Amino acid sequence: MSILVVGASGAVGSAVVAGLLDRGERVRATSRTERVRATSRTPQKLDLPTRVEVFAADLDDPASFTDALTGVERVFLYADLAEPEALLAVFAAAGVRHVVLLSSSSVTLPGAAEDFNGSRFLRVEEAVARSGLAYTFLRPGGFASNAARWNWGVKGESAVPLPYPDAVQAPIHEQDIADVAVAALATEALVGAAPVLTGPERLTLREQVALIGDVIGRPVTVIPQTEAESSAMLSRFVPEVWVRQIIKDWREAVGTTPPLSDEYTRITGRPSRTFRAWVVDHADLFR
Ligand SMILES: NC(=O)c1ccc[n+]([C@@H]2O[C@H](COP(=O)([O-])OP(=O)(O)OC[C@H]3O[C@@H](n4cnc5c(N)ncnc54)[C@H](OP(=O)(O)O)[C@@H]3O)[C@@H](O)[C@H]2O)c1
Repeated sequence: MSILVVGASGAVGSAVVAGLLDRGERVRATSRTERVRATSRTPQKLDLPTRVEVFAADLDDPASFTDALTGVERVFLYADLAEPEALLAVFAAAGVRHVVLLSSSSVTLPGAAEDFNGSRFLRVEEAVARSGLAYTFLRPGGFASNAARWNWGVKGESAVPLPYPDAVQAPIHEQDIADVAVAALATEALVGAAPVLTGPERLTLREQVALIGDVIGRPVTVIPQTEAESSAMLSRFVPEVWVRQIIKDWREAVGTTPPLSDEYTRITGRPSRTFRAWVVDHADLFR
């Protein structure tokens, strides 16, 4: 059986490939062997062991997946899809049986269908469900890796400008999402499941900034910022529609108590990784 990981250059996608290879090593002696394939729009940039078969493919061009799909039963898929139906038809025609979709917890929030973020993931989830393929929807909340955007402030002024430092989040490590993806790709246990995934603790943005300082060994503070200042700064890195979404999410998260999910532990049997663990794993970003 072959498993295809779409987006093998991504933070989650690369961890899924590594997790599948690691699992393959452990079960090879006793069980069926699984071949791992990977796609990227720029496969020449991937640095993967030679036993991973690598293909060029673009989600905006479903036909580009034809070669990569030969003999593939299960696919890990990002939801950044303009036309999910066309891609899913190519999957079904190639004999794919199960899609593990990296979706978002935003689909579970009230008003998701009208929300920019919720609706874009709902649209893809609904297309996958309609396709007739078996599916698993991974629904993570905010990623710990969103803090990577703060690295210039941390490196430069040892300070992070923020409009809503008291926004509360439960940031999740990309490795936790990948672990659940691997469980979904390697067994039948999560067919039809849609686990919401969060980190194990609630932290304000201010607490996350302080934790970064703690890990790198020098204090890092928050500089208060207006929404307009934050918007102007974020616009240098992300499209306008995302700037509005990020600031809205922060504003609405001030003083909240976001739910903590225990799905990661239920599925893997292990405690989920803390934000501190994410900073330790990515400390070079901030030094
Ligand atoms: N940040 C959050 O808080 C959050 C929360 C919930 C869900 N999410 C979702 O999680 C995903 C981000 O995960 P990540 O951190 O692993 O992302 P990442 O590191 O930015 O990687 C994104 C991957 O998607 C692939 N990709 C993007 N557009 C593609 C296209 N047109 N064709 C083929 N591949 C394409 C890229 O592949 P190549 O460039 O190699 O082709 C890359 O490997 C997004 O869908 C995001 O909306 C994020």
